[in-house]
Amino acid sequence: MDDHVAITPSILYFGTPVVLLTTENADGTPNITPMSSAWALGEVVVLGLARTGHGARNLTERPDLVINLPGPDQWAAVERLAPLTGANPVPEHKRGRFRYEPDKFAAAGWTGVPAEVVRPPRIGECPLQLEARAAEIRERAGFLVIEADVLRVHCAPDLVVPGTQHVDPAKWSPLIYNFRHYFGLGAQLGHSFRSETVPTRA
Ligand SMILES: Cc1cc2nc3c(=O)[nH]c(=O)nc-3n(C[C@H](O)[C@H](O)[C@H](O)COP(=O)(O)O)c2cc1C
Repeated sequence: MDDHVAITPSILYFGTPVVLLTTENADGTPNITPMSSAWALGEVVVLGLARTGHGARNLTERPDLVINLPGPDQWAAVERLAPLTGANPVPEHKRGRFRYEPDKFAAAGWTGVPAEVVRPPRIGECPLQLEARAAEIRERAGFLVIEADVLRVHCAPDLVVPGTQHVDPAKWSPLIYNFRHYFGLGAQLGHSFRSETVPTRA
């Protein structure tokens, strides 16, 4: 069993969903930050953001955000945003590889839709959108660890199990960031004993 090799990978992105944070710039315009260090804890989503990023700066000054979840077919638009930052000037360590872009909605080809309880817009093209507010922000090793309270969830109608509040896991599929490569989900393998969306046979 112990034939593993000890390695020192440069990153530890072991396959988490891509999320797109919309935050509010100082002038009231929106920024979009693609990220994947995100996970849910009840009604809280924990986010890890490099301290030097513009999204991180926005959240320390204006805590409202929308956590938008794209599907696998949106990976190319996400990647169009990858070399961009809303920070002007571009931070030193990003120079040469990243450029300042004030309108990331246009860069991705996406549409801003007003949120209901927070200030930044939702990304209309994303099937799931979580309106949220940063409640706790801690700094750790150059990153901000942000605990955001989810205040409202918007779901594309075809992904909702009819007549329920459930997202249909057979229809929703996240875009996965796997060691900096994009993947979709494979076929379903099974379900938890706690699933509330197991189809019943007639
Ligand atoms: C798919 C994807 C996932 C990423 N995940 C993270 C992440 O979890 N945390 C982070 O700080 N940056 C992450 N990045 C890098 C940021 O998107 C990048 O630094 C970007 O310039 C930030 O934009 P901003 O400065 O306008 O906020 C990711 C980028 C991509 C394309």
